[in-house]
Amino acid sequence: MFAVYADSFANSSDDPLTGLVLGERPDPVAPDGWTTVTVKAASLNHHDLWSLRGVGLKAEALPMILGCDAAGYDEDGNEVVVHAVVSDPDWTGDETFDPRRSLLSERHQGTFADKVIVPRRNVVPKPASMSFEEAACLPTAWLTAYRMLFTQGALKAGDTVLVQGAGGGVATALIALARAGGLRVLATSRDEAKRAKALELGAHEVFESGARLPVKVDAVMETVGRATWSHSIRALRPGGRIVISGTTSGPDLDDAELTRIFFLQLSVIGSTMGTRGELAGLVNLLDSTGVRPVIDRVLPMTEARDGFAAMAAGDVFGKIVFTR
Ligand SMILES: NC(=O)c1ccc[n+]([C@@H]2O[C@H](COP(=O)([O-])OP(=O)(O)OC[C@H]3O[C@@H](n4cnc5c(N)ncnc54)[C@H](OP(=O)(O)O)[C@@H]3O)[C@@H](O)[C@H]2O)c1
Repeated sequence: MFAVYADSFANSSDDPLTGLVLGERPDPVAPDGWTTVTVKAASLNHHDLWSLRGVGLKAEALPMILGCDAAGYDEDGNEVVVHAVVSDPDWTGDETFDPRRSLLSERHQGTFADKVIVPRRNVVPKPASMSFEEAACLPTAWLTAYRMLFTQGALKAGDTVLVQGAGGGVATALIALARAGGLRVLATSRDEAKRAKALELGAHEVFESGARLPVKVDAVMETVGRATWSHSIRALRPGGRIVISGTTSGPDLDDAELTRIFFLQLSVIGSTMGTRGELAGLVNLLDSTGVRPVIDRVLPMTEARDGFAAMAAGDVFGKIVFTR
């Protein structure tokens, strides 16, 4: 079958796309308890670029088909969304706490292919109101945003939230979902055009990255890391919380702002992906509100390299989707 896969890792100084191959891979065979999904659409995440650099992926696992997210048909012809978190079969409860969990494309082959196999419990029905392209945006970036806001962040209607790095896949989801949840939404971006798009998407106010804000916020949603951390801590009201799920600009901080953290009694909360139940809740929220993922561009999967290059250049607003 056709697949987009990592054949080797790029060094940090190399073009991250060095080990990316578009070509043929063997059809997968579903073991007992697993099902085969025929992929109609899949979306790109920063995770796929990390994988090409060998972050979160072991050399022994190569060649590895990339991609965490997909929507398509199950073996009975039902339209489904794939849940990307694969937990141990014996694990019960919140699967994001399973120490043996992995994301598709880390241990099990990913979604950028004609077919992907997943445990049977890892498919969620796709509502007819949603296209395959839209549904394919949900399993990683949108699920992460949903859990950050409503589970880990415990935010409720009327709270004020700051979203850093407005253009990203997770960040655009955060803005749209926060607005749908009745929050007051502030967002930052380095880019003027992305700030304008963030306003269209639902942000109440937008600011240049690092700019002084007119109010202190209840919570900050962080995916940028080093470049915005200090600003995030300074944006919080006493007792406020920062929810972090990524470090696109790097994890090492010049100043962790520890004094502010204890003196203002701030909470720093990690967040990773989400549960199957949260994915079903997210799908339901979108079905009932009409909120839809922001799609930067849709490309045939055979042109996936262009999508990877755009993400590596930071030239995106929303999600990049590949179709079959
Ligand atoms: N923990 C999890 O489960 C989980 C799930 C999904 C994603 N993630 C992580 O979350 C991060 C975002 O993922 P994504 O797929 O949304 O990536 P993305 O679409 O590539 O977005 C990255 C955004 O970060 C901002 N940014 C990058 N470098 C910056 C800098 N130096 N200064 C300020 N802003 C900067 C940019 O915003 P502007 O251009 O608007 O400034 C950019 O749009 C990644 O690190 C990813 O690995 C984690």
